[in-house]
Amino acid sequence: MHKVIFDTDPGIDDAMALLFLRRHPQIDLIGITTVFGNAPIGFTTRNAQFLAQQWGISAPVAKGAGVTFDPARPEGHWPTFIHGENGLGDIDIPETIDRPLDPRPAHQFIIDTVRAQPGEVTLIAVGRMTNLALALKADPDFAALVKEVIVMGGAFDVNGNTSPAAEANIHGDPEAADLVFTAPWRVTVVGLDVTLKTVMTSGYLAEMAVTGGKDVQLLSDLSQFYIDFYKHRVGDGMVVHDSCACVYLVAPDLFKTRSGPIRVVCGGIADGQTIQKPDGKRFPPGDWDGHPSQLVCTDIQADKVLEVIRAAIVEGRAA
Ligand code: BDR
Ligand code: CA
Repeated sequence: MHKVIFDTDPGIDDAMALLFLRRHPQIDLIGITTVFGNAPIGFTTRNAQFLAQQWGISAPVAKGAGVTFDPARPEGHWPTFIHGENGLGDIDIPETIDRPLDPRPAHQFIIDTVRAQPGEVTLIAVGRMTNLALALKADPDFAALVKEVIVMGGAFDVNGNTSPAAEANIHGDPEAADLVFTAPWRVTVVGLDVTLKTVMTSGYLAEMAVTGGKDVQLLSDLSQFYIDFYKHRVGDGMVVHDSCACVYLVAPDLFKTRSGPIRVVCGGIADGQTIQKPDGKRFPPGDWDGHPSQLVCTDIQADKVLEVIRAAIVEGRAA
């Protein structure tokens, strides 16, 4: 059984990933931590509470960061054209949700939970890396106790999606991401190189909703706004970014990876760009030296990944 803390900014593709974690038989979701990104922190946290309530998720929800790791960074804008004003495709969500929050801030919840179960907890981070960076700052030694970190973010051999250089989760907090990638723990990065190849058509999702009942119908309803956004980019369907990172946990063989230290450009026109120095390639001494090798996903068996998602969400089965 994989014990998972899900660090998320729900977010439409985050919602699918959450239902996947809830339903996969080999995953024990032991915490949800929220971060700003697809919407302000108040909205992403309320969305996490709402989804947890609707989908019968008993894991604690802890509210996380609402500003960047370096608070001096200017505030960006919310991607309302992708995820709607409320972050969940503008479906109706009550103002307040009867689902209490954990009293701790997300980074403290993460530290405490990992320290209570050393070597057993995987962190899957699919928003900005702010909470993880705050945890590393507060307790640098806890990194060695984390089993594995899986990140949705970055663009290595392809363009970004918030600028030609940078992907949204990393662009939203580059200093935090650089700290996370260079910390002494095992990180696998599932970025745009592979997620953009993983498109779920609207028919595929509709079929899932027909057989999956009301929980999957809710997922389908809130996804329609996102599918509309992607019409001009992928034709029909939605890119399931965050679910790809969750599938990596249970089916890493469906991904091709490359090893090497990763740095993040902080500032300038390439702000938020992720750059890996592949192991075995020789360069003059530089800023990648002395940092741990991490894994970057360079290819994916997209159809099989979609089937892993479908099997878990609709049938509660490992594909
Ligand atoms: C990432 O940014 C967010 O909008 C999505 O939820 C995903 O985590 C894709 O770049
Ligand atoms: Ca996300």
